[in-house]
Amino acid sequence: MPAETSTDAAALTIAKFDKALHDRSAFSCGFGPIDNFLKSSLSDQIRNGMVAAWIATAGEDPAVLGFYTLGAMVVRADLGPKKWQSAGVPDIPVIYIRAVAVREDMQGKGLGTALVVDAMRRCLGIADQMGAAAIVLDVLKDEHFERRWYFYEDLGFKPPGDAQNPERVFISLANVRATFEHHRE
Ligand SMILES: CC(C)(COP(=O)(O)OP(=O)(O)OC[C@H]1O[C@@H](n2cnc3c(N)ncnc32)[C@H](O)[C@@H]1OP(=O)(O)O)[C@@H](O)C(=O)NCCC(=O)NCCS
Repeated sequence: MPAETSTDAAALTIAKFDKALHDRSAFSCGFGPIDNFLKSSLSDQIRNGMVAAWIATAGEDPAVLGFYTLGAMVVRADLGPKKWQSAGVPDIPVIYIRAVAVREDMQGKGLGTALVVDAMRRCLGIADQMGAAAIVLDVLKDEHFERRWYFYEDLGFKPPGDAQNPERVFISLANVRATFEHHRE
């Protein structure tokens, strides 16, 4: 799989995180824990096999404009939709988006959407190589929760019906595949 994807005509590139290439120093998305994660924990998390990170930059500028991370996870079949409950396994393999964030001055311009769409496309590629039924994430809970929730809902995510994780949303990879195929027609 290529490590780089050009997403639009504005020379935006989404590429695999490279400590030597990507400048994280000025990144701030307005949510401190995510900024700290990017600047202080990401390299260790990657080294330890916890996540892979994908970084958006523009043109030749190495400044990080946005990013997302992916990791493998299982969720309990009985805490999900009927399809999971009837799968005959206790755990459903999914791909977890641990963080999505856009630099504050770039928010509201479509970059967050481009990052999640890029993640969806990438997850389809992963699900071709190993079992993965859905993309899952937990929407951050603070005063902007509702706006975030609508952001993911607009992209097709919905709650799995897991009362233990009320901020959790998912989209099945079958849905993602069908959406991309529909848009190709
Ligand atoms: C949430 C976030 C990734 C969206 O990225 P973005 O580039 O602003 O999003 P887009 O321009 O593609 O889409 C806009 C939609 O995102 C949501 N959104 C925009 N700014 C937001 C903000 N500051 N906080 C929460 N949601 C926001 C809104 O639903 C918006 O739709 P609207 O314009 O119709 O109101 C970005 O705002 C961000 O990084 N926020 C801080 C970190 C964060 O909340 N990460 C998500 C963790 S679950």
